[in-house]
Amino acid sequence: MRNAPIGIFDSGYGGLTVFKHIRGLMPEYDYIYLGDNARNPYGTRSFDVVYQYTLQAVEKLFSMGCELVILACNTASAKALRTIQQKDLPRIAPHKRVLGVIRPSVEEIGELKSRHVGILGTVGTIKSQSYLLEIQKLFPDIKVTAEACPMWVPLVENREYDKPGADYFIRQHINRIFEKGKSIDTLILGCTHYPLLLDKISNYVPEKVMILSQGALVAKKLQQYFNRHPEMEKRCSLGGCARFYTTESPERFKETAQIFLDETIEVERTEL
Ligand code: DGL
Repeated sequence: MRNAPIGIFDSGYGGLTVFKHIRGLMPEYDYIYLGDNARNPYGTRSFDVVYQYTLQAVEKLFSMGCELVILACNTASAKALRTIQQKDLPRIAPHKRVLGVIRPSVEEIGELKSRHVGILGTVGTIKSQSYLLEIQKLFPDIKVTAEACPMWVPLVENREYDKPGADYFIRQHINRIFEKGKSIDTLILGCTHYPLLLDKISNYVPEKVMILSQGALVAKKLQQYFNRHPEMEKRCSLGGCARFYTTESPERFKETAQIFLDETIEVERTEL
């Protein structure tokens, strides 16, 4: 029976950049977006805490009727996804699925035939080495260089992403990653906030380097997942509607969400 909205989870607003592309490609489905704004940022938190928070969010989305949840957050995908898939799902919901954003991004690198990939992300994502491990597993010949950019999320959330002050922090990390990895040919924006910095990032990246933003590729991979898993696709409801929940103030979410979505939305508060 088609009665399940697709759940999209992020620590806060960043997952909206992924949601926007998923809904753009597949507007026919229903979506529930959940942002754990009361407890973000996740990027600086420990493995255990991110895992606990993410599991609570997944359980909340399941209780709202979702059968498939996308962790539209690199930090949650890096620190919680594997454990949830392997340890929790078989116990709490064996027929439901949770997918992340790291695997689809790594698959895309393979398709692009990159030789040396640069990963930009939060401290948590980079420290977890999830990208490195996933790339080594799928494409052991690809070289990987990583750089944590702790100031980039606050730049976006404080609406400084297109202001002149942002250039200092962007240049700093782009210069560092290219100093460490001179032959980088592909750069992954491994944090859902970073697409908002893309215009400025492009100014400091050599022209021949491909910059990968995750929204479009995660949407494409989800569509391919549905083609491979019609049993899941057939459970997703087709009302074309999106509901938004936050663990913090709905008013604040509504206001800041406009940076990411270019539209006004209705938001409800929920607790995890
Ligand atoms: N959305 C998170 C990510 O993609 C970054 C924000 C946070 O640190 O909570 O990694």
